[in-house]
Amino acid sequence: MDISGKTVLVTGANGGLGRHFVEQALDRGAARAYATARRPQAWAEARVVPLALDVTDDASVAAAASTASDVDIVINNAGVGGTSSLLDATVDDVERVFATNVFGALRVAKAFAPVLSSRGGGALVDVHSVLSWLAIAGGYSASKAALWSITNSLRVELAPQGTLVVGAHLGYTDTPMIADVEVEKNDPADIVSAIWDAVAAGEDEVLADQVSRDVRSALSAPVRALYPQLAAH
Ligand SMILES: NC(=O)c1ccc[n+]([C@@H]2O[C@H](COP(=O)([O-])OP(=O)(O)OC[C@H]3O[C@@H](n4cnc5c(N)ncnc54)[C@H](OP(=O)(O)O)[C@@H]3O)[C@@H](O)[C@H]2O)c1
Repeated sequence: MDISGKTVLVTGANGGLGRHFVEQALDRGAARAYATARRPQAWAEARVVPLALDVTDDASVAAAASTASDVDIVINNAGVGGTSSLLDATVDDVERVFATNVFGALRVAKAFAPVLSSRGGGALVDVHSVLSWLAIAGGYSASKAALWSITNSLRVELAPQGTLVVGAHLGYTDTPMIADVEVEKNDPADIVSAIWDAVAAGEDEVLADQVSRDVRSALSAPVRALYPQLAAH
């Protein structure tokens, strides 16, 4: 779909990937970008409209959908990390991760589906992770696996109204979320560019880096191929 002239809404837009989603949408000719956040910041660019949106809050999401009634493309980017071990975390801890990464994204999709329909279909982008397919991060991996499934359901459910639903997978990327993790990281600008390219090309899914492509292709192998640590047991 052509991004030029479109109105975009990004959740979690204050930093990390979210900020790149906003900036690159404008670079690609978007007419307007709602930069949403729990505590919206001022932007120097006139085409950016800061807007309050907490994905865990029904009233906040409903208010944003009412205000941003001209949105063509929704980027479900907001997310939280945490709970690397399911046994060490409490169930409440895991529920908190799901509240944002799973039910928050679903809440936004449900609220904006009628808006996208009124605009002729538009697009919904859900930011998953390579950890949707690789369960090495406890509750976070579980949340991204659940979101992946939700995205696949929404793609089918929203097809009749002409909405493109794009699922994005990526590995370690240099944002505040993993500032303390010492690994090789993707440049967030490259990841967001690959995702916008996928939207522009009308693709259902984007594997934004090599690790996502590798893990995706390994899913057809026996489970232990993805978990070498099991070989010792
Ligand atoms: N960085 C990576 O390695 C990586 C890899 C795979 C997938 N991802 C995914 O990429 C997406 C963007 O993350 P990031 O890496 O850019 O991390 P980030 O810089 O921490 O950004 C996450 C954003 O989500 C927002 N957020 C959290 N809870 C929210 C809520 N209840 N309502 C609205 N916004 C909320 C945060 O806003 P506040 O400023 O209000 O906290 C923050 O702006 C996430 O879905 C993440 O899971 C990241």
